[in-house]
Amino acid sequence: MFGAHLAHRSLPPGPNTPAAIQLWQWLTDGRAFYSAGHQRWGDVFTIRPLGCRPTVCFATPRAAQQILAAPTEVLGHGNEVAAIAVGQHSVILANGTAHKAARKRLRPFFQRKKIEALSPLMIEAIDESIATMPARVPMNFTPVARELTLHVICRALFGMDRVSAHESLFDDLALLAENAQSPASLVSGAILPTQLLSGWVRGQGLHRRRDRGAARIAGMFPVVQSIRHIGEVLLAQLERRRETLDDGGEDLLAQILRRAGSDLDDRLFLDDLITLLLAGHDTTAVTLSWLIQHLTRHPTTMAVLQAEIDAQLDGRAPRADDLARLPYLDAVVTESMRLEPIVPAIARVALQDTEIDGVPIPRGVGINPLVRPLLHHDWPDPSVFNPGRWADRKPRPQDRLAFGGGYRRCVGMGFALLEIKLTLIRLLQRTDIALGTDEPLRPAPSGAIISPAGGAPMVVLSTRSTQPAPIFPGVDTHPAMKCPA
Ligand code: HEM
Repeated sequence: MFGAHLAHRSLPPGPNTPAAIQLWQWLTDGRAFYSAGHQRWGDVFTIRPLGCRPTVCFATPRAAQQILAAPTEVLGHGNEVAAIAVGQHSVILANGTAHKAARKRLRPFFQRKKIEALSPLMIEAIDESIATMPARVPMNFTPVARELTLHVICRALFGMDRVSAHESLFDDLALLAENAQSPASLVSGAILPTQLLSGWVRGQGLHRRRDRGAARIAGMFPVVQSIRHIGEVLLAQLERRRETLDDGGEDLLAQILRRAGSDLDDRLFLDDLITLLLAGHDTTAVTLSWLIQHLTRHPTTMAVLQAEIDAQLDGRAPRADDLARLPYLDAVVTESMRLEPIVPAIARVALQDTEIDGVPIPRGVGINPLVRPLLHHDWPDPSVFNPGRWADRKPRPQDRLAFGGGYRRCVGMGFALLEIKLTLIRLLQRTDIALGTDEPLRPAPSGAIISPAGGAPMVVLSTRSTQPAPIFPGVDTHPAMKCPA
């Protein structure tokens, strides 16, 4: 097991630092590790972290296109590191027909119309969060964004109210999110078999005495207690929702329960629910943190965005169909996610021998399209925050690589983009904000989700209570797009 990294010596060359150091660098500062490899070895190189499968990294659009378009039988997920947190039945750990079935089960609830119908609920949660922000005092927007996105997901997906979500889940999720990124958890996820690990953590479906013993020992760790507690809360919510189904409600859980009837296996479905809860809040909170950092560091861009919002909405709360009339908002969000995608690489594994962009890839080898280099490819001044670069270019699927791609592309992309845009709109409608730090912007070292170091320090300069007059009445050519970065 610990010699797995030594396999397939004929793969393209890559870092020749000792495998243990590669493992440490990969888990503690993935972005810097990939970036150093890309600079030294070019667009194709192989990493060999100790005990993990060798993984070929690609940074050319042609290779990325081929990888993301590959059929499920050829390339599977490379998400084992998430096994501890999400459980072995999660959509993100399924391949082939099981993955197709899981996506089919979830897809109807992430349709555009269904997501858009969640706007009022999202706005209510956003407004509540903004109301908690102190004026004229330095503050960090990241914890606010974490609470906000957790409340939105609990309400939208599970029909939970703010208080019960907060009381029963918040601390456990915070601990889990922190632990999911810890080197110990990532090492175990990368090295140990998913099924075994997830069984020990959940403490269920274990037949051998020594596995039951391992589950008891695992239960001594606070993070495992948190995972088990989250499972209990969600199973109880599932039961409660089943009993109150006739009272209405269009949350995801109610819709799934209505469709599935008694066919749903709660214990298997639980892993999907935990996945949605985890994948659906911290990702969005961290993306919002980068956005706040970029906007407060570019006051002109922020003023132009605020002007677009005021002109189009005149101070009223947005509806989902307003977003099409806010192209600068889309440009700002797309640009922030291009500049600082929160995952460094998309993870795939060859399920059979294959070839990517002329490189033979044997079965079992990992494949990582590198998100940041791919999103920076082909742009002049790729490291500059400049929403104006989207003035003449509608984002294509490959420009949204921060959400992955192909048949595994993030199922919650529409949900996340709506939530992010509504949050920015309400924030800029209701407050004037400024940067709250003198520190330069840099990523925090992390193996999984890359957040800005120090979060998003900001100051609410003043609250805006008046309904501002339109600044660009009847704008349809959007002069905003011509403004400087
Ligand atoms: C800005 C916020 C988000 C970002 C940047 C993001 C990013 C990603 C990425 C990179 C992947 C891997 C895709 C691949 O392997 O090709 C993914 C998968 C996934 N995301 Fe998101 N995500 C976000 C928000 C959400 C939300 C809000 C939800 C649910 C409500 C969600 C649910 C999922 C699920 C279930 C998967 C697994 C899909 C599969 O394996 O088929 N994500 N996401």
